[in-house]
Amino acid sequence: MRIYRAKDYRDMSRKAANILSAQVIMKPNCVLGLATGSSPVGVYDQLVEWYKKGDLDFSEVTSVNLDEYKGLSPESDQSYYYFMHKHFFDRVNINPGKTYLPDGLALDEAAECARYSAMIHELGGVDMQLLGLGHNGHIGFNEPDEAFEKDVHCVSLTERTIEANKRFFASAEEVPRKAYTMGIKTIMQAKKVVVVVSGEEKAEMVKKAFFGPVTPHVPGSILQMHNDVILIADEAALSRL
Ligand code: GLP
Repeated sequence: MRIYRAKDYRDMSRKAANILSAQVIMKPNCVLGLATGSSPVGVYDQLVEWYKKGDLDFSEVTSVNLDEYKGLSPESDQSYYYFMHKHFFDRVNINPGKTYLPDGLALDEAAECARYSAMIHELGGVDMQLLGLGHNGHIGFNEPDEAFEKDVHCVSLTERTIEANKRFFASAEEVPRKAYTMGIKTIMQAKKVVVVVSGEEKAEMVKKAFFGPVTPHVPGSILQMHNDVILIADEAALSRL
């Protein structure tokens, strides 16, 4: 694992955007695994800025997102579909027909998980996966558990995650209780992984996930076993190391 120490959120975002840009320049038809949450917003802003300057071209890129809330339609402004369009897809020249997310409205959980898994497989896998780290150590929506969930699955969100994510909703009651997410195997099969973490409140989790024991109680800790991971964290997030 390589660790890049960033000064602050902006610097973290620029460093991560540099790596994603390199991926797109080196392989214009790559498959990017994308993430939501507040951590990658600055990365998307930076990529958009470079795209507008004419330095980047996303026309051949395919994207697959990590996760989506179950029960939210694409039109819902809390859905990850909406988030991705607002922060990235609608601001660059990516082909909307080649941007994939789990279908939040799918009712048959098993069928949706199988569909999304098969689709990622058919694309040939993810070249570069962007990840944030949840407050409880989750990646995607892989919550702390007794065992690692391997494939795409439908998960019941923990109280901790509902609490952490309620800032995006009118109230905690409105946070969906379930989500579709790539599994740990799906994430680990990405050829390269880039993790962005910012802020003091993640510092303890950064220490646990990247320097503690590998355990399903800290899902992000599995990344220690991946052979091409770059952690880009700001000084606040690295302050407990
Ligand atoms: C959500 C997403 C994760 C994300 C996490 C952290 O739960 N499903 O993919 O990494 O939040 O979010 P933030 O970056 O806002 O702290």
